Amino acid sequence: MKGIVLAGGSGTRLHPATLSINKQLLPVYDKPMIYYPVSVLMLAGIRDILIISSPEHLGNYQRLFGTGEQFGLTFSYAVQPRPEGLAQAFIIGRDFVGADDVALILGDNLFFGAGMGEMLERAAARKAGATVFAAYHVENPQAYGVVTLDRAGRPLRLVEKPSEPESTWAVTGLYFYDNQVLDIAADVKPSPRGELEITSVNEAYLERGQLHVERMSRGYAWLDTGTHDSLLEASEFVRTIQHRQGLQVACLEEIAYLQGFIGREQLVARGELFAKTNYGQNLLRLAREHDAAPPA
Ligand code: TTP
Repeated sequence: MKGIVLAGGSGTRLHPATLSINKQLLPVYDKPMIYYPVSVLMLAGIRDILIISSPEHLGNYQRLFGTGEQFGLTFSYAVQPRPEGLAQAFIIGRDFVGADDVALILGDNLFFGAGMGEMLERAAARKAGATVFAAYHVENPQAYGVVTLDRAGRPLRLVEKPSEPESTWAVTGLYFYDNQVLDIAADVKPSPRGELEITSVNEAYLERGQLHVERMSRGYAWLDTGTHDSLLEASEFVRTIQHRQGLQVACLEEIAYLQGFIGREQLVARGELFAKTNYGQNLLRLAREHDAAPPA
């Protein structure tokens, strides 16, 4: 399975902070925002990742991540000339996806919760159709795609940014698709606001009876980072979790090591590179702990 991180956009709600830097490069507490969605793809077992961003910012991602070998990953890069909608990821990424299944995650979406890894692996293992992840009780469902579910949790209807939402289940920025998505996205027509909507893609799966909805209810945090306040709140959330638990959130080398993508030597080399930070010290501690008990 392949992975795409869509990290373009204009970030107008974060101006002037995003006048010269792309939103997904801003820090969420101690690491660039894009680390968080990349960590989600890695937890799903995905190693082949395409990063899509705007022409003026793509180079920054190449400098940040390079080939991805430091995480045992393979990164590719592609430009989205203008932010014309999420479904465009599959037009731009068509050759990259090839004959595979693909997961798409938005570069500004943060997920946190126990059982995340299992839920992701379940979605990745599903052979046919699409899986979306719905978050419960969002404050302003008008800002999202909203899904209405039946009693068994099956999707009945999807509406993009409804003025009068009939449910409080919002579709989050993480989507798993089989290979049909390439042709479905190619057929999507621009919406009245001029975007190729991901909701149109999901509706096509719903009509085929192939849309699965994983519910992220209590116990999961889905954090938005699109405004100054939500960005600061996300930073505070990550800082609190890390301090309380003494563990890192979205530490890519740690996930790579535990997933078996990199070995102990690479882990230690990265830890030494960042030795002045808690991030680096966490990697060195992990290496020491696993000297006593290596991962299975
Ligand atoms: P949005 O939050 O809808 O847009 P934005 O990032 O441009 O911000 P603002 O509303 O402040 O102007 O985008 C959600 C995510 O999707 C974000 O990570 C950017 C990304 N995105 C793209 O990369 N390309 C696109 O065409 C769109 C619509 C969004």
